[in-house]
Amino acid sequence: MSDLATERDIVTVPKVELHVHLNGSITEQTASELARRHGADPATALELVDGRYVGHWPDFGGFLNSYLLANSFVRTPEDLELVAAAFARGQAAQHVIYSETIFTALIQVRAGLEPEAMWAALRRGFATVGPETRLALVVDAIRDNGRAEAEATIALVEAADAPVVGLCLTGVEGTEPVERFHVLREAADRLGMGFEVHAGEMGPPESITEALDVLEADRIGHGVAAIHDPRLLDRLIRDQVPLDVCPSSNVSIGLFSSWETHPVTTYWERGVNMTISSDDPPFFGTTLTDELRQLVRVAGLSRDDLGELQRRAARNSFASPEVKAALIAEIDAWAAAG
Ligand code: ADE
Ligand code: ZN
Repeated sequence: MSDLATERDIVTVPKVELHVHLNGSITEQTASELARRHGADPATALELVDGRYVGHWPDFGGFLNSYLLANSFVRTPEDLELVAAAFARGQAAQHVIYSETIFTALIQVRAGLEPEAMWAALRRGFATVGPETRLALVVDAIRDNGRAEAEATIALVEAADAPVVGLCLTGVEGTEPVERFHVLREAADRLGMGFEVHAGEMGPPESITEALDVLEADRIGHGVAAIHDPRLLDRLIRDQVPLDVCPSSNVSIGLFSSWETHPVTTYWERGVNMTISSDDPPFFGTTLTDELRQLVRVAGLSRDDLGELQRRAARNSFASPEVKAALIAEIDAWAAAG
């Protein structure tokens, strides 16, 4: 057996993150600055405890409350630019070379932003880091908000002047019949984009089967419920279905009691085509680097495994073949440097 990846390996590995929400990346510091900007007291308006988000909730609803409070202060293009710039700097500081950032465009439009100003604010925020930190967008529609919102989201993406590489379905599984969202698959095909579906997070294993068979998703967000259905897990392994796994997120909303009881080690050992992401990092008290550190600890990854996990994320991404090749070359160079 090879040696465990070291702390230096974990910090320096060129990282590819496929599942991180821009609306879920707003740190306490950024949220507090925005709250003050709009005349609110951060501690009360954001329900902070000792200046921090609670970080652990009995269920998804508790997390969502905190997330929506932070997002309620993103009201102007300047606010969104601040969020995007803080996110970009955080990714760059972690040696992220490519990230697919899920963005709920309709939250911002509902808050009164003009679409053109919204995309321009994102472009300005992302431009605060160099081109070595490639920041792509995956625009999501929230299931609970129904098909009309999914259609409005598609219209926004069709007119977007922004690096959108995919569409995504998020929200609470089971709130609407999934076939209503097949329009997202059709739009992704029309626009030459990928399509990711959050499934098998809070929902049952059947939700993953529906995401694959009814919605024809290219990639599943989470997919951890497959641990409860051996036949489905066999199918995911056989077909090498890409899963974005976000363990701290799942632990923080009470789906599993700890990293030790989370399915990520079984998935890794069984050869599931999984990658690791941070989902809504400050809300779950984590970062992508922390996720990799924990994974090395519980599943015993070597330096080579860590490099291979990042190559896999590049392959599972919605980037163009040229970008994928460039990402893999950077990871190979890191691996060769030893
Ligand atoms: N939106 C932001 N985070 C989410 C999650 N973990 N599940 C579903 N929708 C989300
Ligand atoms: Zn997510």
